[in-house]
Amino acid sequence: MGYMNQILSSPQRLMQSDGVEMSSFQELINSRRSVYKFTDEPVSQEIIQAALQAASNAPSHKHTHPWKFYFLGEATRKRLIPTISKLAKVKSAKLQSTTVEADSERAISKITKPPLLIAVSSKKSPNDKFREKEDYAATVCALHNMVLSLWANGVGAQWSTGGITRDQETYQILSIDSSTEEIIGFLKAGYPAKVRHVNKKPVDEIVAYLD
Ligand SMILES: Cc1cc2nc3c(=O)[nH]c(=O)nc-3n(C[C@H](O)[C@H](O)[C@H](O)COP(=O)(O)O)c2cc1C
Repeated sequence: MGYMNQILSSPQRLMQSDGVEMSSFQELINSRRSVYKFTDEPVSQEIIQAALQAASNAPSHKHTHPWKFYFLGEATRKRLIPTISKLAKVKSAKLQSTTVEADSERAISKITKPPLLIAVSSKKSPNDKFREKEDYAATVCALHNMVLSLWANGVGAQWSTGGITRDQETYQILSIDSSTEEIIGFLKAGYPAKVRHVNKKPVDEIVAYLD
């Protein structure tokens, strides 16, 4: 069998309740949800490598491969705590919160708790804004390839663009040069403790067929 035939025949076919035949890949895409609560079970290096492989196979115009994935270990996460506390205090004051200490603890745990915490960066092109926009799009493709690969192995993930992902102190702590790379977010990942249901727009509301 030729290589292409192997690829085309590889997805396992499933029969949906409405009688529409769906590939298991289609099922995988449709079932993915952002996961916010994780168990403590570690994610294996094999699953991480597969996710990185999936990310590196994302499309990029002119083969720029603008993405980079920084896995944040315990020591790096600890170094982020003063910045997280600073940002949490500003947010609490803005919301006139009466639980400032608890707000800060919650914000810290969002960074220290996930089994995997990955900062995703995209290459900047200050002199070519169109290239930078295309590279951002490519990095999002790579990020989502990674999310889908993890999901295929039972691992949930959530993309976060909270203040900590954008603060200049974060760039310093992670040794990322903000003039050449933009952190487009943090990916938190681990085995799901809970998966939410999310209502999506019906397909007929997001499509227009033009003649
Ligand atoms: C660019 C981007 C940034 C996001 N940032 C956050 C975030 O900072 N905090 C958060 O709770 N969820 C964040 N999310 C996750 C969305 O809230 C989530 O995708 C949405 O609720 C839909 O749920 P689903 O991913 O399960 O379909 C982000 C998603 C995207 C695409």
